[in-house]
Amino acid sequence: MLVDIHNHILPGFDDGPTTELEAVILIQNAAQNGVTHIVTTPHHRNGVFDQDIEEIKNSIQILNALLEDREIQVTIIPGMEVHLHGELIDELTSSILTLGDSKKYVLIEFPTYHIPHFTESIFYELQLKGYIPIIAHAEKNTEIRRHPKKLFDLVTKGALVQVTAASVTGANGRDLQKFVLKLCQHQVVHFIASDAHDVLKRPFLIKQAYHVIQQKLGKKVVSYFQENAIHVINGTEFQPWVPLIGKL
Ligand SMILES: [Fe+2]
Repeated sequence: MLVDIHNHILPGFDDGPTTELEAVILIQNAAQNGVTHIVTTPHHRNGVFDQDIEEIKNSIQILNALLEDREIQVTIIPGMEVHLHGELIDELTSSILTLGDSKKYVLIEFPTYHIPHFTESIFYELQLKGYIPIIAHAEKNTEIRRHPKKLFDLVTKGALVQVTAASVTGANGRDLQKFVLKLCQHQVVHFIASDAHDVLKRPFLIKQAYHVIQQKLGKKVVSYFQENAIHVINGTEFQPWVPLIGKL
């Protein structure tokens, strides 16, 4: 069982595929990477895209039936990538889809350049209500790259961290690869995910990413990431490794 917890594969929902055929081709790409379960996470509240929970679920139903017809051994599961915004808590039960509809894990996207001042209070509120925030592609945030300690602080307070497969493989540049591997070494990363959008520019790359992790950090780290992703779709909690605070 191999779970991907962040990607854009639903046709016509965001900047992922536009047609059903493109979606199926992208899912085939996931299958070639060994992925068996895709928690799909269309962009939500990012200033461009807003989603409707029922529309996401309907599209998934259609897509899963199509995959079964074509004998593609992948199951699609609902989720969302929610842009961090001030009303997130108010909208939690009405319009936000947790990962795997688990009512536990919320995938949260930061703005590109900074960490909003209300991040800590929203994360705190989320956790009070029994949710666990997962920071999407943490390595892509400029403030986190400049001040990794701020990421350590959020993790110490209970947030989890996802990094992108393409950053692990070096496809997003050597500097980002170095940074991500250091974050992994310091045990401040909990998930590798594809953030796949299309087969040409942003494919799954999951297999290659886990290969790099195994080469550089060992099998135990690969298992840790893969097991954590299974916990997400089961909606079960796990004990994250303690971050090794120190200079990156
Ligand atoms: Fe994404």
